[in-house]
Amino acid sequence: MFNLKKVIKARKTLERVTSLLFKLFQIKLRYKEKRPDYGIEIFEYFYLPWKSDDEFLANYDLISEFTLNPKSRLYTIYEMSKKYLLDNTSFVEVGSWKGGVTGLVALTNKDKNIDYYSCDTFAGVVNSSEKDSFFKNSEYSDALPSDVKKVSEIVNTNLNVVEGIFPQSMNSINIKNPISFAHIDVDTYISAKESLEFIFKNGSKGCLVVLDDYGGWFTDGVTKYGNELKFSEDFFVVPNHLGQLLIYKLN
Ligand SMILES: C[S@@+](CC[C@H](N)C(=O)[O-])C[C@H]1O[C@@H](n2cnc3c(N)ncnc32)[C@H](O)[C@@H]1O
Repeated sequence: MFNLKKVIKARKTLERVTSLLFKLFQIKLRYKEKRPDYGIEIFEYFYLPWKSDDEFLANYDLISEFTLNPKSRLYTIYEMSKKYLLDNTSFVEVGSWKGGVTGLVALTNKDKNIDYYSCDTFAGVVNSSEKDSFFKNSEYSDALPSDVKKVSEIVNTNLNVVEGIFPQSMNSINIKNPISFAHIDVDTYISAKESLEFIFKNGSKGCLVVLDDYGGWFTDGVTKYGNELKFSEDFFVVPNHLGQLLIYKLN
């Protein structure tokens, strides 16, 4: 039964454990956090739907080796794709790495006619600038176009592999159907900005972009870019505080 006194007591314990966890995490990573707006928070909202959704879990098992994303963030993409990825449109993932997220979206939307574009440099992160405190380029350079092709076979759907720096990598590609849903997971300010601008230029009204890295400990360039978007009149922008910013195109 709900008992406010017990809740307040439990909350204090949670705060102590959280503070200890954050200290341990910093020791393990040999990094001292000085930014006042960073830390660990255990939110008291304990609903974790990704633990019990059978369809999601079955799809996850098929693609989990091909993504670095945790179940919580994959679940957002899985769930949002069902509503926002429209029949006869395109899905784009920028920063696909081995292609697991594109595979998850394809598995989840088998009933729709979708053109899938799985885009990566396959040479790691690019475009780092003074806005990015941690990324210096070339991180995550261990994915190959053949990894995405393996995912394509697993999910039994054609995934177009686009190799090179996005959006220039799209110069020779003719997107037939507008983009209605996209995932951007590129780690740096400039790559996030250029990716979003291209996607919304080729996106339908109501297009939804899930911007990964928002709020990530080491991806502060993307967080800065996301914060710039929050007050734009062109988008409805919501952080879910799982590391993703949801950006909905209004016009
Ligand atoms: C953290 S990884 C992406 C993880 C992936 N989405 C997953 O689910 O595992 C970041 C990726 O972004 C790619 N990347 C960064 N900037 C890019 C750009 N401008 N164009 C294409 N790929 C880019 C890197 O090569 C790297 O593979």
